[in-house]
Amino acid sequence: MVPTMGALHDGHLSLVRAAGKPTVVVSIFVNPTQFAPHEDFDTYPRNLDGDLAKLKTIGAPIVFAPTPREMYPEGFSTSVTVGGPSVGLETDFRPHFFAGVATVVAKLLLAALPDVAVFGEKDYQQLLVVKRLVRDLNIPTGIIGAPIAREADGLAMSSRNTYLDARERTIAAGLNKVLRFAAGRARSGGDLRDAEAMAMAELKGVGFDSVDYVAIRDAETLMLTDDPKRPLRLLAAAKIGKTRLIDNMAI
Ligand code: PAJ
Repeated sequence: MVPTMGALHDGHLSLVRAAGKPTVVVSIFVNPTQFAPHEDFDTYPRNLDGDLAKLKTIGAPIVFAPTPREMYPEGFSTSVTVGGPSVGLETDFRPHFFAGVATVVAKLLLAALPDVAVFGEKDYQQLLVVKRLVRDLNIPTGIIGAPIAREADGLAMSSRNTYLDARERTIAAGLNKVLRFAAGRARSGGDLRDAEAMAMAELKGVGFDSVDYVAIRDAETLMLTDDPKRPLRLLAAAKIGKTRLIDNMAI
C-alpha cells in the first residue's frame, strides 16, 4: 500500500514503484484530521482524475479514494496518539498533526491489511511515527522508507510546491542547498548546534520569511544527541510567505 493525499507527483510515483507489485493499493485521501483549522485543508490541491490517469500509466490500477464521511462517519470519536518520535520538531509547530496522521494511517492499513506499506523519507518524522505505530499496535504490515525524489535544483518534490510563485520557487531551492552545506559541516566534525544555528541564519539570508526549526537529531529516535557514533539526521522546516516547506537528509 502507498497512502497519499493525492495531487500525485513523481515523488509519490517513486513510492509506488518501490512497492514493486502490480497489486499495490494507492490510497488518495486528504485527511481533515491532520490539518489545524488555520491550515490549508480547503485549498490543498485535489486532482483525482489526473491522479488516476498517472497511476494507470505506471501500472497501479488499484486506488482507494474514500470520502471524509466514509473515513469519519457520524460519531467517530477515536484518536491514535503516538509518543516517542512524535515529540518535538513538527509537533512543536503542528501539535495535532501526528495524531491525525496516526489515526488515518491505522485505519488505512487495517482496511487494506497490506504486507508492506511504503512511506517517503521526505516526511522523515512521519516515517518514524508510522513505524512506531505499527510496532506498538501490532499492525501486521512492514513499513518501508523510500528516498526523497527531488527537482533538478534539489527542491524536494511536494504537492505544496504548486503554491510557490516564480520568486518563491527560486528561494525554495535554497532549502536543500543550505541543508547540504550544514550536513557537510556536521560531517567534517563541526559542532552540531553551530551547524544548526548557521543553517537557520543562512535560510533567512536566502529569503525564507521564517524558519520553524533546523535540527540535527538521532536518526532512529529523533532525540537530541552529540554522540558522533550514532546515525544522525538533519531536519528542517521553513516558510516562504504562507508556504511551509520541509526537507531532511542523513549526516
Ligand atoms: P502526502 O504528502 O501526499 O505524501 C504521501 C507519501 O508520499 C508520504 O509517504 C510522503 O513522505 C511521500 N512523499 C511525498 N513527497 C515525496 C518525495 N519528494 N519523495 C519521496 N516521497 C515523497 O504524507 C502524507 O501524504 C499523509 O500524511 C499521509 C501519510 C497520506 C496520511 O494522511
